Amino acid sequence: DIPVLTIDGPTASGKGTLADEVAHELGYVILDSGMLYRATGLAAHRAGLDLDDGAAVAAIVPAMDLHFRKGRVTLGEEDITDALRAEAAGLMASQVAAHPQVRSALNQLQLDFRRVPGLVADGRDMGSTVFPDAPLKVFLTASAATRAERRYKQLISKGISASMEGLRADLEARDARDKGRSASPLKPAQDAQSLDNSAQTIEESRDLVLAWWAERRPF
Ligand code: CDP
Repeated sequence: DIPVLTIDGPTASGKGTLADEVAHELGYVILDSGMLYRATGLAAHRAGLDLDDGAAVAAIVPAMDLHFRKGRVTLGEEDITDALRAEAAGLMASQVAAHPQVRSALNQLQLDFRRVPGLVADGRDMGSTVFPDAPLKVFLTASAATRAERRYKQLISKGISASMEGLRADLEARDARDKGRSASPLKPAQDAQSLDNSAQTIEESRDLVLAWWAERRPF
């Protein structure tokens, strides 16, 4: 059995960075499930579909020519990595993610990432729904103020201007939508290990998760 470690949590909690660090240390494969939702939203938008039509969006999933290679994502011939990182793609993702049909269409794609020697899966429902047998499920949180500040610094470092209050309002709105939906709402798995990283460095969080993994890994 290929071991899976899941890291779920709200937007800008630092899941992606933590998942990358942990996967790197362990030499594991990584699944950024948010990227799959973003790509589905973008592909549906480009196909001219109504993103509120769950059946129509789910129907294009099997035919999506999506590939993940060396940190880049391609859809057909096109490299869509940068387009996926844009805030617009995050909004499309959260819109299509609300449909149960879309979630189940993406389920098998996510399971296919499970490869030797192990997988680190990051998202909202990796531990609660997609990999319920994972021996370690981390639920990562940080205060809204910390998350807004981190995103603010990220944007400023890229030369993009932003307002801290605006960012905080945006992330609280996305949290509310992800928690309020009926399909796989954002909440920790019953057996999840909570981690609030507001006052931690990335190295501290990484080392804590690696220590938990050393206790729980199945071999
Ligand atoms: O980290 P950030 O919230 O900016 O984005 P993301 O992780 O790429 O996820 C984008 C959106 O996809 C989220 O707001 C969720 O609505 C949705 N999503 C989901 O429903 N389930 C997942 N496993 C991953 C993402």
